Amino acid sequence: MKNAIVALTALALLASTALSSNAQARTWDAIKQSGTIKIATEGAFPPFNYFVGKKLTGFEVDLGTAIGKQLGLKVEWVTQPFDNLLIGLNQDRYDFVIASHGITPERLKAVDFANPHYCTGGAVVSKVGGPKTVADLKGKTVAVQVGTTYLDNVQKVAGVGKVSTFPKDTDAQAALMAGRVDVWVGDKFSALEVVKAQKPRLQLGDLLFQERIGMAVKKGNSSLLKELNSSLATELSNGVYAKLSGQYFGQDIRCK
Ligand code: ARG
Repeated sequence: MKNAIVALTALALLASTALSSNAQARTWDAIKQSGTIKIATEGAFPPFNYFVGKKLTGFEVDLGTAIGKQLGLKVEWVTQPFDNLLIGLNQDRYDFVIASHGITPERLKAVDFANPHYCTGGAVVSKVGGPKTVADLKGKTVAVQVGTTYLDNVQKVAGVGKVSTFPKDTDAQAALMAGRVDVWVGDKFSALEVVKAQKPRLQLGDLLFQERIGMAVKKGNSSLLKELNSSLATELSNGVYAKLSGQYFGQDIRCK
């Protein structure tokens, strides 16, 4: 219940930033003229966006950089806690966000999304012998990152014992490893990597839901959206996307 209220408050706040911000997002012309595009991500969601020491890296960081360069721009990265990313976008603190946001009807009220840059799902992960199926979640404690589609979808499962939210996805994973929760629900590609790294202690269970992931621009910034979509289409067809995806995942994760 408390989580539901927190999630609702965050969404209401986000929707209101879309309405109350009078400031203009930078149009494509303004960005092009400046020569630099500002991209925001979280930097704590491996292997999509994360830090290795002081270096921001990951599939989405490389893809975002490739898109920026393909558009003929210098790229400047900004990192923000996940829960602040779309709010900052609507406050014109950067031009777009690439941080594994699922394209949901709620988020579409606040921002606009580019065509999906990958398709994935939310997976159940537990220690070997622990819950694997949706039915197994009954009475169990589940860890998820705050502000995510994992939280929304776990709350829809009847009979879950308790949902614990964490500021970062990696904190939710750590809670599972420490035995403080029974299950972590997270991205299936992140989960594959974590299960492999923790071998043989963790297991990958059911997919709770599927989602399409997209870059977000400020609501109404159609000139920038058009450029992002066309640049993404180029990367999808010229081999750049395939190479990055193979490098990070050993497979092509584009939407089929
Ligand atoms: N795909 C999930 C969502 O849409 C999780 C995204 C989390 N991203 C991150 N950078 N931590 O909410």
